[in-house]
Amino acid sequence: MEVGPGKPMGELLRRYWHPFAAATELEDTATKPVRLLGEDLTLYKDLSGNFGLIDRHCPHRRADLSYGFVEECGLRCNYHGWLFDHNGDCTQQPYEDTIDAGGKLRKQVKVKAYKVAAHAGLLWAYMGPDPVPLVPNYEPFTWENGFAQIVFSDIPCNWFQCQENSIDPVHFEWMHDNWSLRLKGDEGPYAAKHLEVDFSEFEHGFTYHRVREGADKENPLWTIGRVCLWPYALFTGGHFEWRVPVDDENTLSVGWFFNRVPKEREPYLQDRVPYWVSPIKDEKTGRWISSHIINQDIIGWVGQGTFAERSQENLGLSDRGIAMIRKRFFDDMDALENNSNSDPKSVIRDERENQRIDLPIVGKENFIEGFSEKELNDASPDAAARRVSSRNFPFHFGQPEEVRRAYEEAMGFKMEDRPESDMKN
Ligand code: FES
Ligand SMILES: [Fe+2]
Repeated sequence: MEVGPGKPMGELLRRYWHPFAAATELEDTATKPVRLLGEDLTLYKDLSGNFGLIDRHCPHRRADLSYGFVEECGLRCNYHGWLFDHNGDCTQQPYEDTIDAGGKLRKQVKVKAYKVAAHAGLLWAYMGPDPVPLVPNYEPFTWENGFAQIVFSDIPCNWFQCQENSIDPVHFEWMHDNWSLRLKGDEGPYAAKHLEVDFSEFEHGFTYHRVREGADKENPLWTIGRVCLWPYALFTGGHFEWRVPVDDENTLSVGWFFNRVPKEREPYLQDRVPYWVSPIKDEKTGRWISSHIINQDIIGWVGQGTFAERSQENLGLSDRGIAMIRKRFFDDMDALENNSNSDPKSVIRDERENQRIDLPIVGKENFIEGFSEKELNDASPDAAARRVSSRNFPFHFGQPEEVRRAYEEAMGFKMEDRPESDMKN
């Protein structure tokens, strides 16, 4: 599933907006080298606050523009001072402008430039042809009174095997429930078994549905399910996990996590969405970190090799969803090759629809109506589940202290301490 320009999948993915950075990253540094869909680029925020995403190399003599410096409008190469704006136009060539003010060179020179949009604390890039579609305004981006955080991990394998994990219900039972139990040193009992799974397609992706021992088909995990969001994310309700293709051999895992504050803390307005980078390898042992849910998933993905060797697979009854998403991608690649004006699945152009893209969400009311501190602390199983998910950050290893503190301040309670021994194994 190669993503470079001209490759069928590369062309297909260039029809979507890609969340690739946090808006707050550019508070610390005005430029950032970025690799996206196999292209080397430079992200910058100029002194007027415009974001730009332009070629990594200067069209003069190829200096690295990520070492350039920003001006009122645009990014200036640090080598000979040529200035580029976010459209890719060269607006100054200091020496040439001085001695040959009417010269043609400046007009002839253009640098590759892609559109950047800031939305939900993320920066999104569009690298495809005009007309540019809308940045998806998924329902959680419209929720109020919550604390959001963005988490990145660099994953050394192809993005598609990461995304196949987004339509794989049975792995929860083994990779997360049972393996976590064994990692803690317990030998059982193992978690409730999957008794039935199902998959279906909708406008913005696929859903998967499950019945586990002790539950029935009234359970929202069967009636509503979870979302494999198009083109390359998992959406669980409280968070998104995008598997953004850096190139064919590397993926940027981008997580966006939302926690509603207790009702007593409302109104709460988050003034900045923090971001952090979660390591995936234990430097002491050289082994992958396995203590957190997404770290465990990552072990699944990188364990398949840089590219999972599909010819060596033996798909089972639980893998029907994987076959479905593969087929959808192949069909959409074919459709685009036959008609380059066709829009693939889930490209959004309707402003009205994009006021809020509703998605299937288990427990949606918790996000919309919120819950009181009492509801968080009473003896019911629901409250217990809420406590676990709100007093820990179980998804990624290494949440920094300042993010944890900001979260505690928003929520009005302390997170539970995780013993260091429990953090890595
Ligand atoms: S290499 Fe960039 S201005 Fe010369
Ligand atoms: Fe998982």
